[in-house]
Amino acid sequence: MKNILVTGGMGFIGSHLAEFLTKKNYNVTVFDRYNSNNNWGNLENSKYRKNIKIIMGDIRDYDSTLKSLKNIDTIFHLAALIGIPYSYVSPLAYIKTNIEGTYNILEAAKEKNISQTIITSTSETYGSAIKTPMDENHPLNAQSPYAASKIAADQIAMSYYRSFGQNIKIIRPFNTYGPRQSSRAVIPTIISQLLNKNKFIKLGNTKPSRDYTYVEDLCEAYLKLSKAKKLTGHVVNVGTNKEISIKDLSILIMKKLNIYKKIKISPERKRVKLSEVNRLLCSNKKIIKETGWVPKTNMQEGLNKTINWLRNNKNNFKENIYNI
Ligand SMILES: NC(=O)c1ccc[n+]([C@@H]2O[C@H](COP(=O)([O-])OP(=O)(O)OC[C@H]3O[C@@H](n4cnc5c(N)ncnc54)[C@H](O)[C@@H]3O)[C@@H](O)[C@H]2O)c1
Repeated sequence: MKNILVTGGMGFIGSHLAEFLTKKNYNVTVFDRYNSNNNWGNLENSKYRKNIKIIMGDIRDYDSTLKSLKNIDTIFHLAALIGIPYSYVSPLAYIKTNIEGTYNILEAAKEKNISQTIITSTSETYGSAIKTPMDENHPLNAQSPYAASKIAADQIAMSYYRSFGQNIKIIRPFNTYGPRQSSRAVIPTIISQLLNKNKFIKLGNTKPSRDYTYVEDLCEAYLKLSKAKKLTGHVVNVGTNKEISIKDLSILIMKKLNIYKKIKISPERKRVKLSEVNRLLCSNKKIIKETGWVPKTNMQEGLNKTINWLRNNKNNFKENIYNI
């Protein structure tokens, strides 16, 4: 493994992964969605900008996807539409990007004899926990069009492994957080609302609990997984095996900032009942046993880094964006 393509590499996780791999001396190419402003998203101000090759295209079109694989031996596929609320508005967009886009990646990888493809799944594919902690055998249950599109993409990937013998692995991260995450996600939403001038913070349902991994720990997991030969054809969870409710998370962040505001539940931020995923708690036994990966960053440390980044990047944050 030397020449790596990171799809979605201008996004939150992808930009960290592209930098992380560059620091480890891999040759990194990022493939992300074309825009006429030539905006490189989260890599715009990266100190590794000169070392990373950028290709603007679209995973929904086979031509640019195939061309992005010139001189590539390994693909880390992260490009996707990820917001759950928008998947209620435009399910077909998720089908085209997440399912057809993954098909294009797999088909182009087959055509080019790519030696390894890692597909990014999500804990949302499990739906609300039936038993905890949730291991890779937990039943899949699509509670949103987003989750359905990721289940479909994972299944197509597994079928390519079984049918064509391609070296494919599926990484299934639970919630991830850290610098550069947009206020679509709950942690940046809480922090940015505490830092603004309003007297209260607006959230959706505060009862659900999640298992949060710091983004750099997830980057380590990608690398360890890519080196684990035995895990070809496997799904592998990444999480911390710890959970916290959104309410307790809000209180924890208030204490850290020493800023206390009342939480207002805003109905437009709530998921409808059957779509609400109440609990996600990761069993990370498989990745620990097979690769030796462990989450190194505790929540206090990870939140400090996220808060610092947000304090310095307040202008990036827009209000009135729904959290997940
Ligand atoms: N953030 C999380 O908590 C989390 C948890 C589990 C899984 N994931 C998965 O991790 C991956 C990355 O998520 P993220 O949080 O960094 O999201 P993000 O939205 O920050 O990044 C996604 C990237 O994909 C790109 N993209 C979207 N459509 C594209 C297209 N048609 N062609 C090319 N590029 C396109 C976007 O421009 C963006 O840069 C996704 O596959 C997501 O499902 C995220």
